[in-house]
Amino acid sequence: MIELKGIEKTYLRGSEEVHALKSIDLKVSKGEFISIVGPSGSGKTSLLHVLGCLDRPSKGSLLIDGVAVENMPENKLVQIRRKKIGFVFQQFYLMPGLTVFDNITLPLVFSRQTIDKGKIIRAIELLGLKERIEHYPKQLSGGEMQRVAIARALVNEPEIILADEPTGNLDSENSEKIFELLKSLHKNNLTVVMVTHNNDLASRADRTLLLKDGKFIA
Ligand SMILES: Nc1ncnc2c1ncn2[C@@H]1O[C@H](COP(=O)(O)OP(=O)(O)O)[C@@H](O)[C@H]1O
Ligand SMILES: [Mg+2]
Repeated sequence: MIELKGIEKTYLRGSEEVHALKSIDLKVSKGEFISIVGPSGSGKTSLLHVLGCLDRPSKGSLLIDGVAVENMPENKLVQIRRKKIGFVFQQFYLMPGLTVFDNITLPLVFSRQTIDKGKIIRAIELLGLKERIEHYPKQLSGGEMQRVAIARALVNEPEIILADEPTGNLDSENSEKIFELLKSLHKNNLTVVMVTHNNDLASRADRTLLLKDGKFIA
């Protein structure tokens, strides 16, 4: 589904080069649940951004469903990202001035798609947010905010969810709930790649990759 070949990512910090990813090879197959662990600064976020076409690699090739995308123009890349990939972040990134419903449907507004209200409401109910539809983010718990963010990531019906420390701001009980939610989405055919600091959750994925200094070491 997604294949990385010889991926490198180099940032410039002033005049200094930061080699965040060094020759990464990875195949993500449809239906997998992969966890990525590694110390802070090891390149996990950089890797997820390249995987999800949020950022371009400095070197190497990125294939999505067999198509090389590393040199694709931005407008085409946006379409692929929108159709196939959902992102979930540690900080939730909800819009404070929008209700739960409006936060979840925002991607549809951005991509000028019609909103099937019934379908959205069913999704909201499924995520246990029924009582929260007209609430604003500041009225929600952290676990609820992350569920809203996951609902928003799912609204374009992506094939894969990329989650960057999705439980990093949650207590253990809510972490467990969010992880179980990702697991149940995975059972329903979604491919999941999750970066986490939580070794217990990481070990419950199909496959765990350990990143250190921009390379997989296990
Ligand atoms: N935009 C950027 N500009 C310069 N350096 C960056 C940038 N983003 C990340 N880095 C550096 O790249 C390395 C890997 O960062 P990151 O991918 O965020 O790691 P992790 O998510 O594992 O903490 C770190 O040394 C970080 O400081
Ligand atoms: Mg990170």
